[in-house]
Amino acid sequence: MAQRRFLVTAALPYSNGRLHVGHIAGAYLPADTYVRYLRATGADVRFICGSDDNGVAALKTAREQDRSVEELTAHYCASQKRDFDGLGIEFDIYGGTHQEGFVDTHEKFSQSLFLKIYEKGLFTKRRTRQLYDEEAQQFLPDRFVRGTCPHCRSEQAFGDQCEDCGRSVDQQELIDPVSMMTQSTPQLRETVHWYLRLDELQSRLASWLSSKKDAGACGATWRPIVLNQSLGRIESEGLPERAMTRDLTWGVPVPLDDPDAARKSLYVWFDAPIGYVSFTDVLCQRGGEDEGAWKCWWEHPDCKVVHFIGEDNIVFHAITWPAMLLASHDSESVQGESGEYQLPHNVVSNSFLNIKFPGKDEEKISKSRGTAVWIEDYLDTFDPDPLRYYLTAIAPENARTTFDLDDFMSRNNGELLNAFGNFFNRTMTFAQKYFEGKVPASGSPEAVDAEQLDRCREAVERTGQSLEQCRFKAALAEVMALARAGNAYFDQTKPFQTRKTDLGACGRAVNVCLQTARTLTTTIAPFLPDTGARCATMLNLAKGWQGWAEATEALPDGHGLGEPMILVKKLDPKELFGES
Ligand code: 2FM
Ligand code: ZN
Repeated sequence: MAQRRFLVTAALPYSNGRLHVGHIAGAYLPADTYVRYLRATGADVRFICGSDDNGVAALKTAREQDRSVEELTAHYCASQKRDFDGLGIEFDIYGGTHQEGFVDTHEKFSQSLFLKIYEKGLFTKRRTRQLYDEEAQQFLPDRFVRGTCPHCRSEQAFGDQCEDCGRSVDQQELIDPVSMMTQSTPQLRETVHWYLRLDELQSRLASWLSSKKDAGACGATWRPIVLNQSLGRIESEGLPERAMTRDLTWGVPVPLDDPDAARKSLYVWFDAPIGYVSFTDVLCQRGGEDEGAWKCWWEHPDCKVVHFIGEDNIVFHAITWPAMLLASHDSESVQGESGEYQLPHNVVSNSFLNIKFPGKDEEKISKSRGTAVWIEDYLDTFDPDPLRYYLTAIAPENARTTFDLDDFMSRNNGELLNAFGNFFNRTMTFAQKYFEGKVPASGSPEAVDAEQLDRCREAVERTGQSLEQCRFKAALAEVMALARAGNAYFDQTKPFQTRKTDLGACGRAVNVCLQTARTLTTTIAPFLPDTGARCATMLNLAKGWQGWAEATEALPDGHGLGEPMILVKKLDPKELFGES
């Protein structure tokens, strides 16, 4: 069978702040787990991420912090990369849309896609009026204007929507608008922008998205939240044209020889997803590959492009980005022909996380209210795997879930330590103490042994099936169920008793426990890579132990084991919160 190929991306984080647990649960941890699993099955995978540096958000933060936007984005690009490294989230490349070593390539790719769409006549040039902040000397994006809602008179409406009454607002309709850049009163000014003809692309987009409703036919399981927000929006509202340029000088310059394009940049949501492609190109170039090697990831139908994102990015990845790709095609084909940008195979989105601190009510994660667990703070004290475990166990795959700090502790101590850690601990110490650290003879298995070995095979299969479908929570539950079954088997076969009465039976039970531990090692590794590596060291497995097909390969009789070690540490709430 031909080797499977995947290009996996995780949403480029804005480089104007720190990362918290909500970011990690949303896109990065599931993406890393998926990539590790795919590699374990022998697939050829490239895992791409980097910072989203352009646009107004970074400019606003730089202004607030009185530093240059270049320095700000370089700082956060590096600090976010450290957070990912600390959590064992291992990209093949971590770029940045405005970072040294990437910005030139990124501009080239972004401008070239813009021009391709322009040449196809799929931009409309329009003259409009927009709010301008004299003090900041710039036009204000919708989210940077606040004022009184023309519908319900709430004073907290944004320039695109009023969150109190939920109705759409045009920034020009806001009563008493205030610039969130400088708190001054903005004025309306005339400007020109280029609008992507989403209306023109709508029917092809809709048929492409409709094809994703049938997992069997399209080979990918699209989550309902993604289809509802994309196809649902097309069906209910239709797609109006959207401006893909902005009056900004921080970003990718609009590549048109037109005086109206002066001092304008591409909309940050136009250039950001192109970062996935431009970073792939840098990766290929750094690997000494031929120019154009990126195409074998982006333009070959046999490579599947999978995007991992948070809920607020759905429309951009399931409508705008595919529309940009479709707009660049020469063919009318819905997915794209070979040699054209391939549309995503899957767009995997999680919902948001709420947070609950001990003794407080559940609330939304908020930077300004300080209701977040920051990754760099977490990593100061703890290992990555307890967090990876918890964030997968409570993954917001279909709806919001809550990071409850008490629950985090109790699940680590009650599930990961009690079920998984203890199974390894009791098995390894027993083999060390009574079988000289070697795998005892398997003998002739009895029904109870065969059943346990069957459970191992079934767990590998079911975990794999869930991971193929990006059902990470269910997949982890399978692994944990096997660890619990291992403990139940240990209790049932009682090697601690039979060692005095029937050494053969005792050895058989320990052998089966070690085979179970072998399976657990490979199956836990995509979720908890450090834990998997420690298990492999304890079992003294040869290189390549991550291979999914080898997860149930029997440890031979007499195989020498490594030293037992503590696999999972008990966590004390005081370490995280100072008090319990
Ligand atoms: O929501 C965000 O953090 C965006 N910066 C995600 C961009 S994803 C992609 F398009 F680059
Ligand atoms: Zn309102």
